[in-house]
Amino acid sequence: MTNKKSAGRKIPGGKYCRVTFENGIAWVTLNRPEKRNAMSPALNREMIRVVDALEGDPRCRVFVLTGAGESFSSGMDLKEYFREVDKLDYVDVMRIQRQTEEWQWRRLTHYAKPTIAMVNGWCFGGAIAPVVACDLAVAAEEAVFGISEINWGIIPAGNVSRALADAMSYRNAMYYIMTGETFDGKQAAQMGLVNFAVPRAQLRGAVRKLARKLIEKNPATQTSAKIAYKYARAMDWDMSADYLHAKGDQLKVRDREGGRAQGLKQFLDEKSFRPGLGAYKRKAR
Ligand code: COA
Repeated sequence: MTNKKSAGRKIPGGKYCRVTFENGIAWVTLNRPEKRNAMSPALNREMIRVVDALEGDPRCRVFVLTGAGESFSSGMDLKEYFREVDKLDYVDVMRIQRQTEEWQWRRLTHYAKPTIAMVNGWCFGGAIAPVVACDLAVAAEEAVFGISEINWGIIPAGNVSRALADAMSYRNAMYYIMTGETFDGKQAAQMGLVNFAVPRAQLRGAVRKLARKLIEKNPATQTSAKIAYKYARAMDWDMSADYLHAKGDQLKVRDREGGRAQGLKQFLDEKSFRPGLGAYKRKAR
């Protein structure tokens, strides 16, 4: 998709991350298949740049995160991240940890565009954090997940434990943290870690269909709605009520297409749609 704003823009990405655009969908592929897309410090630095560039890129209306080959990601790079980082000074360790967090959950959690994790295969340890940070997640039934840290003598840090507390029940999270057993995409869907799972051959098509559904909605409303939900869940009821009123008022200013007024007019005056059953008709853009 090119228009005046996107013409002449470079495609972000590089050695460890491949980006392709398709009618508003940015397919962002972790690209170290020979290492099962393990996330090294260099990959993390590249991903910060990609995530940042795509947020402001009109070719990206929905951000889809996936992995090259048979893996989503085998988690943090055990050699380049753990073994080699262990030798560094604490200041460098802190910087590397911050770079990891920066894209894996800090930016993705409150990203200005809708995000979908498309879990195509192996998904271990640290890879769980970006899956949870994405707004939605879809897995291949054949994908294999694991909170494998216990298997090699560490705890699920990198905020994986915190991510699991958001996305899994207490019993399920404790079971997989403590046993290190794997589970497949179907089980991940049953446990609510992903929205749904489909056979791998249908994965891209299913995610494309979901992304198209998101693209059809008013983007300003959609961004405000998801960010409001994510912040509200950490607040008490009184704070959340006030915050949500303020957030709603903010949207009136931010939404240039005036979705609220359009919706009210089309339902109450023109009687041309029913909000309970679908979205108002947006003007050609
Ligand atoms: N960090 C660094 N290197 C990794 C890696 C990781 N997380 N996961 C895989 N690799 C490397 C392997 O060392 C191997 O490198 P080599 O070819 O130089 O020997 C290569 O990727 C292929 O891995 P291999 O184990 O042979 O692939 P596989 O398809 O048989 O198994 C996994 C895939 C994902 C099951 C297995 O690689 C694995 O258990 N990885 C670690 C998963 C994990 O516990 N991650 C948690 C990190 S917090």
